[in-house]
Amino acid sequence: MAKDVIIACDFPNAEKTLAFLDQFSGLDRKPFVKIGMELFYGAGPDIVRQVKKRGHQIFLDLKLHDIPNTVMRAMRVLRDLDVDMCNLHAAGTVRMMEAAIEGLTRDDGTHPLLIAVTQLTSTDQTALEEDLWIEHPMDQVVMHYAENARKAGLDGVVCSPLEAGKVHEACGLDFLTVTPGVRFAENDAGDQKRVMTPAQARAIGSDYIVVGRPITAAEDPVGAYLRCMTDFLG
Ligand code: C5P
Repeated sequence: MAKDVIIACDFPNAEKTLAFLDQFSGLDRKPFVKIGMELFYGAGPDIVRQVKKRGHQIFLDLKLHDIPNTVMRAMRVLRDLDVDMCNLHAAGTVRMMEAAIEGLTRDDGTHPLLIAVTQLTSTDQTALEEDLWIEHPMDQVVMHYAENARKAGLDGVVCSPLEAGKVHEACGLDFLTVTPGVRFAENDAGDQKRVMTPAQARAIGSDYIVVGRPITAAEDPVGAYLRCMTDFLG
């Protein structure tokens, strides 16, 4: 199964993103990168085409959540943009997730990897109960949503590295866990509350780690990326 490090390109515009990626031009294999809402909404779909043209695989992190027909049609657009991975909110229901797969599926029956967000890590138990009126413990909600995603035919979930083992137990080893919240041992965790090193994420069975600032804010981003790859892939 593919295991990889995905660099979160959390930059405000195309110029800064491409200047950052220029540093990796000497590598034989270009890093897998994540493009999020800020960059996509600011720079438009052309940023995806430009980054793809440079040989990077792309995780387009737009977290879709709408009625099934709208999500199906939006996913068709993302399929035609040739992204490698994209995501949605499992809260949109199994039917919405099935519609998303339908929209993403190419003529040959394959589709870009589709990953579900179960509950955002910014949502705590209090918000779950008081704002969303969901009266189950957070870990059970996360597992239920992960199982719904698997039933709908998705490839995996975004989760904390601490949840990756449990997700694999409930949904199988081939159900992907994509985990942010990764830090080198000497890094400041910043706003991330629960963090793991790349080696710990590997030990716990993460399939993809999403790493932003430990690489983007490093003095030597290429060195930090290569270190991450070595520690994670073993
Ligand atoms: O800079 P840092 O390594 O914290 O970046 C992590 C990336 O993963 C960011 O793009 C952040 O939005 C994303 N992410 C996260 N936690 C989640 C889901 C996504 O940190 N639960």
